[in-house]
Amino acid sequence: MTQDELKDLVGRAALDELVDGAVVGVGTGSTVDRFIDALAGRRDRIAGAVSSSERSSERLRRHGIRVLDTAEVDRLPVYVDGADEIDGRGCMLKGGGAALTREKIVADLAERFVCIADESKLVTTLGRFPLPVEVIELALPRLVRRFEQLGGRAVRREGVRTDNGHPLLDVHGLSIADPEAMEAEVNQWPGVVTVGIFAHHRAAVCLLGTGQGVRRLVF
Ligand code: 5RP
Repeated sequence: MTQDELKDLVGRAALDELVDGAVVGVGTGSTVDRFIDALAGRRDRIAGAVSSSERSSERLRRHGIRVLDTAEVDRLPVYVDGADEIDGRGCMLKGGGAALTREKIVADLAERFVCIADESKLVTTLGRFPLPVEVIELALPRLVRRFEQLGGRAVRREGVRTDNGHPLLDVHGLSIADPEAMEAEVNQWPGVVTVGIFAHHRAAVCLLGTGQGVRRLVF
C-alpha cells in the first residue's frame, strides 16, 4: 500500500473512535485531511468540530461541518490528530504542519487523544524528525544557543509563520530519551511559545496504518 492509502485507511478507521452526538476535536495535516473527508459522511452524527488550524477549519466547513470555537466547549471526548513521530508509550513529536500550539490547546480539552499515522511514524526514540518549536521572534538567537547546549542544531523554518503569527525553529540532531523531562525543560525557557513534544498530552490510542491493515495501539 502507498503512504496515501495508509493515511486513507487510518482516517476512516478513526470514525469508530468517535462519540455520537458529541463535538470532536480535529487536528491538522495530510492524514487529518483524510479523516475530515471521512467525517463528512458522518456529519449528522456529531454536534460539530473544534479545529486546531485555519486549514482544517476551512476543510471542515467545505464539507458542511459546523466549526466551534475552543471557548464554546468545556471538554471534548476525543481529539483526532496525526504526528511526525510516535513512540511505544504514545509520546509524540508534532508541528511539522506548524499548528502545534493550537493542537496542544485542543488536545488539552480532550479526554482521549487518538493519533492517526502511517507505520513510518512509529519510532523507538523521538528526535530523528527535527523538533518543531514555536517561538517569540525576539528570543530566537538565544533559543538557538540554548538548543546548541543540548546538542541540537536549531534552524528557522524559512517563509513560515504559525496561525498565531510566530516563527518556528526546527531542531535537528536531538535524541529525546526522556520526552516528559525535555518538554518540561524547554517549555519554561523564556520566548518559547510551544515545544512540539507531546508527552504530557500523549496519545491514548494510535491507529497505525500498516501493509496488513490498521494496528490499534493502546497506551
Ligand atoms: C501539524 C502536525 C501534524 O499532525 C504532523 O505534521 C503530521 O502530519 P501528516 O499527517 O501530514 O504527516 O503536527 O502541526
